[in-house]
Amino acid sequence: MLGAVQLGVMAACVVLFVPMGMAGWHLSRNKMLFFSGALFITLAVGVHLTPYFPSISDLASSVSSFVVFDSRVSCLSLLHDVVWRSHDRSWAWSPSRPVSACAFQKLSPPDASDLLNGSWVVVAGDSQARLLALSLLQLVLGSDRTDSIKADLFKRHSDYQIMVDEIGMKLDFVWAPFVTNLTDMVVGFKRNRNYPDVLVMGSGLWHMLHYTNASNYGVGLERLRSSVVSLLPISPDLGVDGPVAGSLSVRSPHLFWIGVPTLINSMLNTEKKRERMTDAMRVAYNEALQSSKLLRRSGGPLFLLDIQSLSWNCGVRCTEDGMHYDGVVYDAALHIMLNALLIQSHQRL
Ligand SMILES: *[C@@H]1O[C@H](CO)[C@@H](O)[C@H](O)[C@H]1NC(C)=O
Ligand SMILES: *[C@@H]1O[C@H](CO)[C@@H](O)[C@H](O)[C@H]1NC(C)=O
Ligand SMILES: *[C@@H]1O[C@H](CO)[C@@H](O)[C@H](O)[C@H]1NC(C)=O
Repeated sequence: MLGAVQLGVMAACVVLFVPMGMAGWHLSRNKMLFFSGALFITLAVGVHLTPYFPSISDLASSVSSFVVFDSRVSCLSLLHDVVWRSHDRSWAWSPSRPVSACAFQKLSPPDASDLLNGSWVVVAGDSQARLLALSLLQLVLGSDRTDSIKADLFKRHSDYQIMVDEIGMKLDFVWAPFVTNLTDMVVGFKRNRNYPDVLVMGSGLWHMLHYTNASNYGVGLERLRSSVVSLLPISPDLGVDGPVAGSLSVRSPHLFWIGVPTLINSMLNTEKKRERMTDAMRVAYNEALQSSKLLRRSGGPLFLLDIQSLSWNCGVRCTEDGMHYDGVVYDAALHIMLNALLIQSHQRL
């Protein structure tokens, strides 16, 4: 009897730890499913064997600490479940059970500083990216200090760089209105063998306004995707979950995409914008983004910060020109990004 039990435990260990080891390097969706299945079987075996074999309870308790692994991926997919309160335009994560189980938190300035301590953060793109950079600076520097640098940050069509000495964080805002500009930047990182720790990019509105050609936009995104993938220390074969998991040993930048906001056509402030930036065009640009496989949800390397859903839910009251939204929308995107970083880097504050 005991022999069979030991065999069972050994088998359970193999089933559990082999995928765990693989998971340590790279979790693709298939491995994840395999891993979850293994975990389930192990737990089931564990529950049945516990009465016969006291030390199994040790195994069971060590198993429970691995469940964290399993929840990381699903929590990432719940990060955008936020609810807005209309009277004061504030937001919070949904109180629903799966979301609250993820224990997302709006990071306080010290927590954000801890998380970003010693990091090089690059935010690149158009005015949406600039607004996200502003949110980040407001969080780590406070509003007073940010007000004094706002003029430089918002200098029309130019880059901005700041070193926040207290936390050793370097932030670069790179003005990159077109996807080709982003690709050039990524190629530059590769050439110089110098990568930021966190890379946040987004572009689409300028192309929509000046070229109004979704398939051309898609071609640009595909090029960007391949240059980003070639930047990664971990080679392609990106699963749906991307190059996140357990890859801290391999230094790999954390990658985010700033989505295009909801466009409220009637509020756009020029005739040309109202003509070209239509709902149909926005949908076509969105489809181009999906099929470019740039985003994790379609098997690519970048985690989407879904400005469209955030701005849609904040609504008309949160924008004056139907395109740029109040700070609270970019704050929400920022906290989603920071929580994604926390999940990806296993840091517990
Ligand atoms: C940043 O990290 C360094 C060491 O890694 C530490 O000495 C310093 O206190 C940290 N600063 C903050 C603000 O957390
Ligand atoms: C961005 O790309 C466009 C078109 O490819 C180019 O004309 C422009 O100079 C670039 N801008 C920057 C800031 O690199
Ligand atoms: C749109 O872009 C595609 C791909 O670059 C190109 O083949 C096509 O001619 C463009 N269409 C127009 C109307 O410019």
